[in-house]
Amino acid sequence: MKIISSIADLRDQLRGQNRIAFVPTMGNLHEGHLSLMRLAQRHGDPVVASIFVNRLQFGPNEDFDKYPRTMERDIAMLEKEGVYVLFAPTEKDLYPVPQDFRVTPPGDLGDILEGEFRPGFFNGVSTVVTKLFNCTQPRVAVFGKKDYQQLMVIRRMVSQLAMPIEIIPADTIRETDGLAMSSRNGYLTTTERAEAPHLYRVLQQTRQQWLDGAGRTDRLLQLEADARRILLERGWQPDYISIRMQKNLLTPSQADLDANEALVILAAVKLGATRLIDNLEI
Ligand code: PAJ
Repeated sequence: MKIISSIADLRDQLRGQNRIAFVPTMGNLHEGHLSLMRLAQRHGDPVVASIFVNRLQFGPNEDFDKYPRTMERDIAMLEKEGVYVLFAPTEKDLYPVPQDFRVTPPGDLGDILEGEFRPGFFNGVSTVVTKLFNCTQPRVAVFGKKDYQQLMVIRRMVSQLAMPIEIIPADTIRETDGLAMSSRNGYLTTTERAEAPHLYRVLQQTRQQWLDGAGRTDRLLQLEADARRILLERGWQPDYISIRMQKNLLTPSQADLDANEALVILAAVKLGATRLIDNLEI
């Protein structure tokens, strides 16, 4: 595997390739990330991965400084997966001058859910992903459904800006107890780690209850409130737990429910100092 940090070297290395499959990450890799690499192999060749902890998508009080950086271990994992190039730019490489040209998603997608609690997050994500796409020029790129709203933002961005890239969604990989794998799970204490799988259990229960009853908006609000209360009682601090339409992440109207619009439950909750996100399609 070639490890490249400068944009110019990356372009040299990839010149002439027209079937590149790209997997952007922030490193501290786990099985979830590796499943994306394997999916990428099936959709293109060569596979290019990136590791870059993107300051633009972190809020002033968020964990940019303490975000886990485990480059040596990550490199060994990617080598084993047969990744052809790892693009691992420094901040100077990717942002040699202040990145004041930005890509801003529309408010009805970028300012809801994650965007409401992490202002500017999807601006930071869209900007870095656009730049990484321009550096790598992939034919396909793989994104995890773990970050459901991020996947949707990237899909809409690629479509509206006519970027010639196919976006491939990847299923969420979980620990055996159901906890969605995440680099941030490493922040959990032993007690919190034992409690953490309850988030997924609450999502599953909510889904089942929804499927067992009538498709009415008042029931939907009730189930959201129940899920929030259960998590609060267990000592979690929910940012949001919400049932939305898969197609646009907006709250369904009664007409949408009558039309059987596909739904997804999305949640972001704090357990102690750690913020976890998860979701489940209904
Ligand atoms: P990061 O959190 O490192 O995630 C990189 C990719 O791995 C994302 O597409 C994410 O959805 C996927 N992923 C994370 N956990 C997963 C799991 N348990 N199962 C399946 N896929 C999983 O997302 C980012 O980095 C950044 O925002 C980035 C897109 C790289 C832009 O900076």
